Amino acid sequence: MKVIWITGASSGIGEALAYAFSAAGDKVLISARRTEELERVKAGCANPGMVRVLPMDLLDTASFGERVREAIGAFGQVDILVHNGGVTQRGYVVDTELAVQRQVMELDYFSYVALTKAMLPHFIERKSGHFVVMSSVMGKIGTPMRSAYAAAKHALHGFFDCLRAEVAAMGILVTVLTPGYVQTNISQHAITGDGSALGKASENIEKGLPASRAADKIMRAVRKGRYEAYIGKRSMEWVALVLNRLAPGLVMKLAPKFVPK
Ligand SMILES: NC(=O)c1ccc[n+]([C@@H]2O[C@H](COP(=O)([O-])OP(=O)(O)OC[C@H]3O[C@@H](n4cnc5c(N)ncnc54)[C@H](OP(=O)(O)O)[C@@H]3O)[C@@H](O)[C@H]2O)c1
Repeated sequence: MKVIWITGASSGIGEALAYAFSAAGDKVLISARRTEELERVKAGCANPGMVRVLPMDLLDTASFGERVREAIGAFGQVDILVHNGGVTQRGYVVDTELAVQRQVMELDYFSYVALTKAMLPHFIERKSGHFVVMSSVMGKIGTPMRSAYAAAKHALHGFFDCLRAEVAAMGILVTVLTPGYVQTNISQHAITGDGSALGKASENIEKGLPASRAADKIMRAVRKGRYEAYIGKRSMEWVALVLNRLAPGLVMKLAPKFVPK
């Protein structure tokens, strides 16, 4: 039985992960901004008595020291921190304000860095701990209308690969996940070029892997201590990832065709 802290747990993949870890008998801390949604998720967990709601805004990095103390205090320790909360983006570079590029970077990259730095001393002291990081296929390749999102996700690989190399000898694990399309509300919340929400569903996301199946795959990857794992269907995104290793030039040639639907 472990203590798992999941950010972005008020919907989508984070919500499904809360259900999966709770059903497996783990103690779970769930974070996001919307407290009422977190309470709903808690009530839906197999073992709500072993779930704590810890509201937080990932953009408020100054509060992370306090949030980490609360998280550790809830069950006496944290074993696994799942960095999952975030936002996607839709907009051509030419139409996307610099402020939007920065906003996505703050949430999808710097908040993960800041929360990791706040949690790291606890893991080092215990000579144990596991960072699980939600990247994306977009963390490996680049396609139209995703420049801010892909940049933030690519940056996660660089940061967490370096961290893994630094802390491996201390008994601390780092797993970076690269999901393909998963059925969640991510498209509705996508930030567009002027900073407003896209507010509509995406055909690709709707045909993606159900979030509960994504959570099962993530749990398996976490339990195995995988360095990296693709989470999704054996579909176009998976083919793109495999091709990117074997023939990256071909992926770059095909990339203009992958405008999000
Ligand atoms: N769905 C996919 O196809 C897909 C594919 C690849 C990667 N991913 C990644 O998976 C992760 C989860 O996304 P999802 O698909 O589950 O989307 P989602 O359903 O929209 O969930 C996003 C979560 O992030 C939280 N969040 C957003 N802004 C926040 C902030 N400022 N502070 C704290 N929490 C915040 C939201 O909670 P509140 O609004 O309550 O704060 C929500 O719980 C993301 O990192 C995403 O990039 C998703």
